Amino acid sequence: MTNKKTEQKILMVCNWKMHPGRGDEARKISTEIQRGSSKLKHIEVVVCPTAIHFPLVAKPKSGGNYHLGAQNSAWTENESLTGEISPAQIEDSGAEYCIVGHSERRMYGETNLLVAQKIQALLKQRIIPILCVGETNRDEKGEYLKVISAQLKDSLQGIQKGSIEKIVIAYEPLWAVGNGKKSASGSDIEEVLILIRRTLTDLYGFQKIPRTRILYGGSVTNKREVEEIIQRGHVDGCLIGRASLSAKTLIPLLEEAHRLKD
Ligand code: PGA
Repeated sequence: MTNKKTEQKILMVCNWKMHPGRGDEARKISTEIQRGSSKLKHIEVVVCPTAIHFPLVAKPKSGGNYHLGAQNSAWTENESLTGEISPAQIEDSGAEYCIVGHSERRMYGETNLLVAQKIQALLKQRIIPILCVGETNRDEKGEYLKVISAQLKDSLQGIQKGSIEKIVIAYEPLWAVGNGKKSASGSDIEEVLILIRRTLTDLYGFQKIPRTRILYGGSVTNKREVEEIIQRGHVDGCLIGRASLSAKTLIPLLEEAHRLKD
């Protein structure tokens, strides 16, 4: 299945993590991204700033292709949970998406069960969860495929069949995330894409392959990689960290994704 054959836009998610250090900088970068992507009709851009910058970044326009996302959410509403942000607050801030289960959070103890609870809580507020899964390392015997499949199944516990097409899944191999060195190859990505689709089909008993959007993330830094990921990996878009922190590095990647769908 290629993206050209579907009506769906290519989804380009920008994960800003704890950057930039200042709110005025966040406003500037987001405004440049919104402006620079406004004519790229085949893509959808989701900027995920740190939550404290939500009131400062460029606001999405009705019918536009620039959207906001959160980087994390609480798993419940209306509880006394110091430091947490509820799905209702995320929705109120204008965000339409929320990343869940990023490896940088799983590293500090976020379990698959907690991730599943967060997904449920977000869906209740009509926020689209972006569920991250991925192996730490690859091995010759292909054990990593079992790891990814188990992580996916466990992170979706309790999620009903009717919700699965609302969720976005991001394949993020830990060996490629955050180091800026090398993204996975198109064939590595396609192998996992097939695994994810098969796991969803097994889990939910679909007759047809579900249309759940699947992204790739991990050191996406140049146009050649975007082409490889989308054309050879056949995924529906990218999750971009470091390279999304400047419009100068990001816009060419967005233009490339748009061109591939043109
Ligand atoms: P990176 O980050 O593009 O800097 O590797 C991706 C991510 O952490 O989602």
